[in-house]
Amino acid sequence: MPVDIVVGGQAGDEGKGKICAYLAVKKDYDYAIRVGGPNAGHTIFFKDKIYTLKTMPGAFVNRRTKLVLGAGTYIIPDWLEKEIELTGAGHRLIIDPHVVIIEPRHTAAERADARMMGKIGSVGTGLGAAVRDRVDRKKLTFAKDHPRLKKYVKDVPELLNKALAKGSNMLLEGTQGMKLSNLHGEYPFVTSRDTTASTFMGEAGLGPKYAGDIYAIFKPYVTRVGPGMVANELKDKAKLTKYHTAGREVGSVSGRLRRVGAFEMNVALQTVRINSATKLAITHIDLLGGADVSKGIKSFTGEAKKFMATLDKVCAAYPYPKVELVSYGPGLHEVLELK
Ligand code: IMP
Ligand code: MG
Repeated sequence: MPVDIVVGGQAGDEGKGKICAYLAVKKDYDYAIRVGGPNAGHTIFFKDKIYTLKTMPGAFVNRRTKLVLGAGTYIIPDWLEKEIELTGAGHRLIIDPHVVIIEPRHTAAERADARMMGKIGSVGTGLGAAVRDRVDRKKLTFAKDHPRLKKYVKDVPELLNKALAKGSNMLLEGTQGMKLSNLHGEYPFVTSRDTTASTFMGEAGLGPKYAGDIYAIFKPYVTRVGPGMVANELKDKAKLTKYHTAGREVGSVSGRLRRVGAFEMNVALQTVRINSATKLAITHIDLLGGADVSKGIKSFTGEAKKFMATLDKVCAAYPYPKVELVSYGPGLHEVLELK
Protein backbone atom coordinates (compact mmCIF):
# COMPACT_ATOMS: atom_id res chain seq x y z
CA MET A 1 0.00 0.00 0.00
CA PRO A 2 1.26 3.42 -0.89
CA VAL A 3 1.27 5.56 2.30
CA ASP A 4 3.94 4.60 4.84
CA ILE A 5 3.47 6.23 8.23
CA VAL A 6 6.11 7.05 10.85
CA VAL A 7 4.98 7.28 14.48
CA GLY A 8 6.76 7.80 17.80
CA GLY A 9 6.55 4.95 20.29
CA GLN A 10 7.64 6.87 23.38
CA ALA A 11 7.54 10.52 24.54
CA GLY A 12 8.66 12.09 21.27
CA ASP A 13 12.25 12.53 20.13
CA GLU A 14 12.67 8.90 19.15
CA GLY A 15 14.53 9.93 16.01
CA LYS A 16 11.56 10.10 13.65
CA GLY A 17 13.20 12.85 11.58
CA LYS A 18 16.27 10.75 10.83
CA ILE A 19 14.21 7.67 10.00
CA CYS A 20 11.96 9.74 7.71
CA ALA A 21 15.00 11.12 5.90
CA TYR A 22 16.51 7.64 5.57
CA LEU A 23 13.25 6.18 4.23
CA ALA A 24 12.86 9.07 1.80
CA VAL A 25 16.20 8.22 0.24
CA LYS A 26 15.69 4.47 0.33
CA LYS A 27 12.08 4.33 -0.85
CA ASP A 28 12.17 7.41 -3.07
CA TYR A 29 8.70 8.65 -2.15
CA ASP A 30 6.81 10.89 -4.57
CA TYR A 31 5.29 12.82 -1.66
CA ALA A 32 6.11 13.33 2.01
CA ILE A 33 3.42 14.74 4.26
CA ARG A 34 3.89 16.35 7.61
CA VAL A 35 1.16 17.16 10.15
CA GLY A 36 1.16 18.67 13.66
CA GLY A 37 2.72 21.72 15.23
CA PRO A 38 6.12 23.40 15.53
CA ASN A 39 6.44 22.22 19.14
CA ALA A 40 7.94 19.07 17.59
CA GLY A 41 11.49 19.25 16.30
CA HIS A 42 12.87 16.69 13.86
CA THR A 43 16.65 16.64 13.64
CA ILE A 44 18.46 15.44 10.53
CA PHE A 45 22.22 15.23 9.94
CA PHE A 46 22.62 15.52 6.19
CA LYS A 47 25.76 16.28 4.19
CA ASP A 48 27.71 17.80 7.11
CA LYS A 49 24.82 20.01 8.16
CA ILE A 50 22.33 19.69 11.02
CA TYR A 51 18.73 20.50 10.18
CA THR A 52 16.31 20.99 13.05
CA LEU A 53 12.97 21.11 11.32
CA LYS A 54 9.74 22.03 13.05
CA THR A 55 7.53 22.06 9.98
CA MET A 56 9.24 20.91 6.77
CA PRO A 57 9.18 17.12 6.28
CA GLY A 58 12.46 15.32 6.95
CA ALA A 59 12.08 13.78 3.49
CA PHE A 60 13.32 17.08 1.99
CA VAL A 61 16.66 15.29 1.62
CA ASN A 62 15.28 13.54 -1.47
CA ARG A 63 15.20 16.32 -4.06
CA ARG A 64 12.51 14.54 -6.06
CA THR A 65 10.02 14.29 -3.18
CA LYS A 66 7.20 16.83 -3.03
CA LEU A 67 6.63 18.17 0.47
CA VAL A 68 3.10 18.55 1.77
CA LEU A 69 1.66 20.10 4.92
CA GLY A 70 -1.72 18.56 5.72
CA ALA A 71 -4.79 20.29 7.20
CA GLY A 72 -3.73 19.20 10.68
CA THR A 73 -0.57 21.30 10.51
CA TYR A 74 -0.04 24.49 12.52
CA ILE A 75 2.51 26.97 11.23
CA ILE A 76 4.56 29.84 12.58
CA PRO A 77 5.22 31.58 9.21
CA ASP A 78 8.60 33.11 10.18
CA TRP A 79 9.88 29.70 11.29
CA LEU A 80 8.61 27.98 8.16
CA GLU A 81 10.23 30.60 5.94
CA LYS A 82 13.57 30.03 7.68
CA GLU A 83 13.24 26.31 6.98
CA ILE A 84 12.35 26.97 3.35
CA GLU A 85 15.56 28.97 3.07
CA LEU A 86 17.63 26.38 4.95
CA THR A 87 16.38 23.42 2.89
CA GLY A 88 16.04 25.27 -0.41
CA ALA A 89 12.90 23.22 -0.97
CA GLY A 90 10.25 25.95 -1.29
CA HIS A 91 9.54 25.00 -4.92
CA ARG A 92 8.49 21.52 -3.72
CA LEU A 93 6.24 22.73 -0.91
CA ILE A 94 2.44 22.36 -0.98
CA ILE A 95 0.24 23.61 1.87
CA ASP A 96 -3.36 22.64 2.59
CA PRO A 97 -5.72 25.67 2.69
CA HIS A 98 -6.91 24.63 6.18
CA VAL A 99 -3.49 24.77 7.79
CA VAL A 100 -3.73 27.14 10.77
CA ILE A 101 -1.35 30.02 11.40
CA ILE A 102 -0.12 30.22 14.98
CA GLU A 103 -0.22 33.94 15.71
CA PRO A 104 1.94 35.86 18.21
CA ARG A 105 -1.12 36.12 20.50
CA HIS A 106 -1.25 32.28 20.68
CA THR A 107 2.39 32.01 21.59
CA ALA A 108 2.06 34.83 24.13
CA ALA A 109 -1.04 33.27 25.69
CA GLU A 110 0.67 29.91 26.12
CA ARG A 111 3.83 31.42 27.56
CA ALA A 112 1.79 33.52 30.01
CA ASP A 113 -0.07 30.44 31.24
CA ALA A 114 1.82 29.35 34.36
CA ARG A 115 0.05 25.98 34.56
CA MET A 116 0.82 25.11 30.93
CA MET A 117 4.45 26.17 31.18
CA GLY A 118 4.93 24.70 34.68
CA LYS A 119 2.88 21.61 35.47
CA ILE A 120 2.40 20.49 31.86
CA GLY A 121 5.80 21.70 30.63
CA SER A 122 4.51 23.04 27.33
CA VAL A 123 7.17 23.86 24.76
CA GLY A 124 5.48 27.30 24.56
CA THR A 125 5.10 27.57 20.78
CA GLY A 126 1.40 28.43 21.03
CA LEU A 127 0.18 25.25 19.39
CA GLY A 128 -2.16 24.43 22.28
CA ALA A 129 -3.66 27.94 22.22
CA ALA A 130 -4.25 27.73 18.45
CA VAL A 131 -5.85 24.29 18.74
CA ARG A 132 -8.09 25.66 21.49
CA ASP A 133 -9.20 28.56 19.26
CA ARG A 134 -9.99 26.10 16.49
CA VAL A 135 -12.08 23.95 18.84
CA ASP A 136 -13.85 27.11 20.06
CA ARG A 137 -14.53 28.16 16.44
CA LYS A 138 -12.82 31.51 17.04
CA LYS A 139 -11.46 33.67 14.23
CA LEU A 140 -8.25 32.21 12.87
CA THR A 141 -5.94 32.86 9.95
CA PHE A 142 -5.61 29.93 7.61
CA ALA A 143 -2.80 29.36 5.13
CA LYS A 144 -5.12 30.23 2.24
CA ASP A 145 -5.55 33.73 3.70
CA HIS A 146 -1.93 34.33 4.58
CA PRO A 147 -0.28 36.87 2.24
CA ARG A 148 3.10 35.11 2.14
CA LEU A 149 1.93 31.50 2.30
CA LYS A 150 -1.03 31.43 -0.05
CA LYS A 151 1.26 30.89 -3.04
CA TYR A 152 1.98 27.38 -1.71
CA VAL A 153 -1.68 26.51 -1.14
CA LYS A 154 -3.37 23.72 -3.09
CA ASP A 155 -6.24 21.34 -2.38
CA VAL A 156 -4.13 18.68 -0.67
CA PRO A 157 -6.73 15.86 -0.38
CA GLU A 158 -7.55 16.22 -4.07
CA LEU A 159 -3.90 16.36 -5.07
CA LEU A 160 -2.90 13.35 -2.94
CA ASN A 161 -5.86 11.22 -3.97
CA LYS A 162 -5.22 11.94 -7.66
CA ALA A 163 -1.58 11.01 -7.12
CA LEU A 164 -2.60 7.79 -5.34
CA ALA A 165 -4.85 6.92 -8.27
CA LYS A 166 -1.79 7.19 -10.51
CA GLY A 167 0.25 4.91 -8.25
CA SER A 168 2.32 7.44 -6.26
CA ASN A 169 3.95 6.37 -3.01
CA MET A 170 4.00 8.61 0.05
CA LEU A 171 5.51 9.01 3.50
CA LEU A 172 3.40 10.46 6.30
CA GLU A 173 5.59 11.93 9.03
CA GLY A 174 3.95 11.92 12.44
CA THR A 175 5.03 13.96 15.45
CA GLN A 176 5.58 13.35 19.17
CA GLY A 177 4.83 9.88 20.52
CA MET A 178 2.57 7.44 22.32
CA LYS A 179 3.02 8.86 25.82
CA LEU A 180 2.18 12.37 24.58
CA SER A 181 -1.10 11.52 22.81
CA ASN A 182 -3.97 13.65 24.06
CA LEU A 183 -6.24 10.64 23.45
CA HIS A 184 -4.23 7.59 24.55
CA GLY A 185 -1.25 9.05 26.40
CA GLU A 186 -0.40 9.99 29.97
CA TYR A 187 -2.96 12.77 30.42
CA PRO A 188 -2.53 15.55 31.48
CA PHE A 189 1.18 15.29 30.60
CA VAL A 190 0.40 15.19 26.89
CA THR A 191 0.34 17.47 23.88
CA SER A 192 -2.79 19.08 22.41
CA ARG A 193 -3.42 16.40 19.72
CA ASP A 194 -3.62 12.69 19.29
CA THR A 195 -0.28 11.37 18.06
CA THR A 196 -1.18 8.07 16.42
CA ALA A 197 -1.25 6.80 12.84
CA SER A 198 -5.00 7.04 12.16
CA THR A 199 -5.11 10.64 13.30
CA PHE A 200 -2.11 11.52 11.13
CA MET A 201 -3.93 10.07 8.12
CA GLY A 202 -7.02 12.15 8.94
CA GLU A 203 -4.91 15.26 9.47
CA ALA A 204 -3.38 14.72 6.03
CA GLY A 205 -6.77 14.27 4.37
CA LEU A 206 -6.19 10.60 3.56
CA GLY A 207 -8.59 7.73 4.20
CA PRO A 208 -7.45 4.64 6.14
CA LYS A 209 -7.59 2.44 3.03
CA TYR A 210 -4.20 3.67 1.81
CA ALA A 211 -2.07 2.98 4.89
CA GLY A 212 1.03 1.01 3.97
CA ASP A 213 3.80 0.12 6.37
CA ILE A 214 3.52 1.74 9.76
CA TYR A 215 6.93 2.33 11.32
CA ALA A 216 6.99 2.70 15.11
CA ILE A 217 10.21 4.35 16.26
CA PHE A 218 11.83 3.56 19.63
CA LYS A 219 15.01 4.29 21.47
CA PRO A 220 16.42 1.63 23.83
CA TYR A 221 15.53 4.07 26.61
CA VAL A 222 12.87 6.76 27.09
CA THR A 223 13.37 10.51 27.24
CA ARG A 224 11.00 13.29 28.17
CA VAL A 225 11.62 17.02 27.86
CA GLY A 226 8.70 17.82 30.14
CA PRO A 227 7.10 16.55 33.33
CA GLY A 228 5.15 13.29 33.59
CA MET A 229 5.93 9.60 33.95
CA VAL A 230 9.42 8.26 33.28
CA ALA A 231 10.00 4.69 34.52
CA ASN A 232 13.24 4.09 36.46
CA GLU A 233 14.39 7.62 35.84
CA LEU A 234 18.16 7.99 35.69
CA LYS A 235 19.34 10.44 38.36
CA ASP A 236 23.09 9.77 38.27
CA LYS A 237 24.66 12.99 36.93
CA ALA A 238 27.67 11.29 35.32
CA LYS A 239 25.51 8.73 33.51
CA LEU A 240 23.07 11.43 32.39
CA THR A 241 25.91 13.42 30.86
CA LYS A 242 26.55 10.61 28.40
CA TYR A 243 22.97 10.88 27.13
CA HIS A 244 23.06 14.67 26.97
CA THR A 245 26.36 14.76 25.07
CA ALA A 246 26.94 11.58 23.02
CA GLY A 247 23.19 11.00 22.76
CA ARG A 248 22.39 14.69 22.05
CA GLU A 249 19.39 14.38 24.40
CA VAL A 250 18.64 18.08 24.57
CA GLY A 251 15.23 19.39 23.51
CA SER A 252 15.48 20.57 19.89
CA VAL A 253 12.68 23.13 20.33
CA SER A 254 12.69 23.65 24.10
CA GLY A 255 16.48 23.52 24.61
CA ARG A 256 15.88 21.60 27.87
CA LEU A 257 18.04 18.67 28.96
CA ARG A 258 15.89 15.62 28.43
CA ARG A 259 15.03 13.34 31.34
CA VAL A 260 16.09 9.74 30.76
CA GLY A 261 14.47 6.49 31.88
CA ALA A 262 14.25 2.81 31.05
CA PHE A 263 12.57 1.27 27.99
CA GLU A 264 8.88 0.88 28.82
CA MET A 265 7.51 -2.42 27.50
CA ASN A 266 3.88 -1.54 28.30
CA VAL A 267 4.07 1.65 26.21
CA ALA A 268 5.78 -0.22 23.37
CA LEU A 269 2.98 -2.81 23.27
CA GLN A 270 0.37 -0.03 23.35
CA THR A 271 2.18 1.66 20.43
CA VAL A 272 2.12 -1.48 18.30
CA ARG A 273 -1.58 -2.05 18.93
CA ILE A 274 -2.95 1.47 18.61
CA ASN A 275 -0.90 2.24 15.49
CA SER A 276 -1.10 -1.27 13.98
CA ALA A 277 2.66 -1.01 13.57
CA THR A 278 4.09 -3.32 10.92
CA LYS A 279 7.75 -2.30 11.27
CA LEU A 280 9.95 -1.19 14.15
CA ALA A 281 12.87 1.17 13.81
CA ILE A 282 15.32 1.48 16.71
CA THR A 283 17.52 4.55 17.06
CA HIS A 284 20.36 5.51 19.43
CA ILE A 285 21.51 1.90 19.79
CA ASP A 286 25.05 3.34 19.94
CA LEU A 287 24.28 4.58 23.45
CA LEU A 288 24.41 0.97 24.59
CA GLY A 289 27.58 -1.11 24.86
CA GLY A 290 28.11 -3.71 22.15
CA ALA A 291 26.58 -1.73 19.29
CA ASP A 292 29.71 -0.86 17.38
CA VAL A 293 28.32 -1.72 13.96
CA SER A 294 30.02 1.20 12.24
CA LYS A 295 32.92 -0.98 11.10
CA GLY A 296 30.72 -3.28 9.09
CA ILE A 297 29.95 -5.69 11.95
CA LYS A 298 26.39 -6.83 11.45
CA SER A 299 25.52 -8.11 14.89
CA PHE A 300 25.29 -6.75 18.39
CA THR A 301 26.91 -7.94 21.58
CA GLY A 302 26.51 -7.18 25.29
CA GLU A 303 23.92 -4.61 26.32
CA ALA A 304 22.77 -3.93 22.75
CA LYS A 305 22.23 -7.63 22.06
CA LYS A 306 20.24 -7.92 25.28
CA PHE A 307 18.04 -4.98 24.31
CA MET A 308 17.42 -6.33 20.80
CA ALA A 309 16.28 -9.60 22.39
CA THR A 310 13.67 -7.80 24.52
CA LEU A 311 12.08 -6.60 21.26
CA ASP A 312 10.86 -10.16 20.62
CA LYS A 313 8.08 -9.41 23.07
CA VAL A 314 7.13 -6.24 21.17
CA CYS A 315 7.10 -8.20 17.90
CA ALA A 316 4.78 -10.77 19.48
CA ALA A 317 2.00 -8.15 19.75
CA TYR A 318 -0.54 -8.12 16.91
CA PRO A 319 -0.01 -7.20 14.04
CA TYR A 320 3.45 -8.70 14.73
CA PRO A 321 5.80 -5.97 13.52
CA LYS A 322 9.29 -6.79 12.30
CA VAL A 323 12.40 -4.90 13.42
CA GLU A 324 13.62 -3.44 10.14
CA LEU A 325 15.96 -0.54 10.89
CA VAL A 326 18.52 0.04 13.61
CA SER A 327 20.16 3.46 13.68
CA TYR A 328 23.61 3.56 15.30
CA GLY A 329 24.53 7.23 14.84
CA PRO A 330 23.06 10.55 13.74
CA GLY A 331 24.24 10.42 10.12
CA LEU A 332 21.63 9.72 7.46
CA HIS A 333 23.27 6.47 6.38
CA GLU A 334 24.19 5.15 9.82
CA VAL A 335 21.42 2.56 9.69
CA LEU A 336 21.59 -1.20 9.82
CA GLU A 337 18.85 -2.95 7.85
CA LEU A 338 17.72 -6.21 9.36
CA LYS A 339 16.18 -8.69 7.02
P1 IMP B 1 3.05 21.25 24.32
O1 IMP B 1 2.45 20.32 23.31
O2 IMP B 1 4.10 22.13 23.73
O3 IMP B 1 2.02 22.01 25.07
O4 IMP B 1 3.79 20.34 25.40
C1 IMP B 1 3.09 19.38 26.18
C2 IMP B 1 4.03 18.30 26.64
O5 IMP B 1 4.47 17.55 25.50
C3 IMP B 1 5.30 18.81 27.32
O6 IMP B 1 5.73 17.90 28.29
C4 IMP B 1 6.29 18.87 26.18
O7 IMP B 1 7.61 18.80 26.62
C5 IMP B 1 5.89 17.64 25.38
N1 IMP B 1 6.20 17.76 23.95
C6 IMP B 1 5.53 18.48 23.03
N2 IMP B 1 6.08 18.32 21.82
C7 IMP B 1 7.11 17.47 21.96
C8 IMP B 1 8.06 16.89 21.06
O8 IMP B 1 8.05 17.09 19.85
N3 IMP B 1 8.98 16.07 21.62
C9 IMP B 1 8.99 15.79 22.92
N4 IMP B 1 8.13 16.28 23.80
C10 IMP B 1 7.19 17.12 23.33
MG1 MG C 1 11.79 16.20 18.64
